Amino acid sequence: MTTIALLGTGLLGHAIGQRLLAQGLTLRVWNRTATRISTLVSAGAIPIEQLSESAQGCDAVITVLKDGPATSDVVHALDDLRGRCLIPMGTMGISQSRDLATFMNSRGGSYLEAPVLGSRPEALNGSLLVMAGSDPDVFKQQQHLLSHVSAQPVLVGPVGSGAATKLALNQLIASMTHAFSLSLRLVQQADVPIETFMEILRPSALYAPTYDKKLKRMLEQHYSDPNFSTALLRKDLMLFLQEAMQSGLNPEGLSGLSTMLVQATAHDLDELDYCSLHELTQSIRP
Ligand SMILES: NC(=O)c1ccc[n+]([C@@H]2O[C@H](COP(=O)([O-])OP(=O)(O)OC[C@H]3O[C@@H](n4cnc5c(N)ncnc54)[C@H](OP(=O)(O)O)[C@@H]3O)[C@@H](O)[C@H]2O)c1
Repeated sequence: MTTIALLGTGLLGHAIGQRLLAQGLTLRVWNRTATRISTLVSAGAIPIEQLSESAQGCDAVITVLKDGPATSDVVHALDDLRGRCLIPMGTMGISQSRDLATFMNSRGGSYLEAPVLGSRPEALNGSLLVMAGSDPDVFKQQQHLLSHVSAQPVLVGPVGSGAATKLALNQLIASMTHAFSLSLRLVQQADVPIETFMEILRPSALYAPTYDKKLKRMLEQHYSDPNFSTALLRKDLMLFLQEAMQSGLNPEGLSGLSTMLVQATAHDLDELDYCSLHELTQSIRP
């Protein structure tokens, strides 16, 4: 039977753990804050007592950690990596992922970056969009495992290409949410009924389902119980900006949005759903 070590049981990692258990895999779990593994353990997961021993007896090690540095710290603490495959599913920078691949290869292991689009609901029903970056052979070896969380995991290309794709998508999340928020504010200021605005937007080429997904939360200022936090969206936009500049692109249009996302901290929005950036597009007149 396949045995997986899952390191990181935050919002997304916990849901991935639930799904893997539901799929009948043997799951060993670790989280920096140990209390966050308790419900998975109650559901049948085996707690990892020592982080360093996480990889022992496992076919693969999946990490779902905050960012590249956290993933690197955790992975460097692991023993027995020879023959194991490391599968990071959190979002990180391209070079951060490539460095992890180099480390795994130096330890006789293999590496498959597998960032995902989708959140808790998609993790729970196995419909995450996985964008993998790895050698084709490694992808083939791990495809069955990935299929437990994704109907059709996609091999994008070599290590780094999955990370780049994920950052490109998250730039869209930030930009589209911001654009939608500003447009909502303008029509509201002009006393245009929101439903009239949506009736025109929905059948148009400008529509994206994410707008309806977030509309209620924005109008009701209901940002608690997030699927994806503002702090993590900021992390991803900053990574995108860094990568875009290193690639010689001109990401100037995003600088105002990144400044706004930095302001989210002072407005206590960091732990809330990312669409709470709607709070930051309010009138700036005194
Ligand atoms: N949520 C989503 O919908 C979603 C979707 C796609 C991708 N992602 C990506 O997936 C990753 C996890 O997201 P999430 O929403 O699950 O975030 P989260 O709920 O904040 O969980 C973050 C996880 O990282 C751990 N962590 C943070 N810093 C650490 C450190 N220095 N050392 C060890 N562990 C550390 C946390 O441990 P503690 O519990 O001890 O704090 C927790 O397990 C992120 O890269 C995010 O961008 C999330």
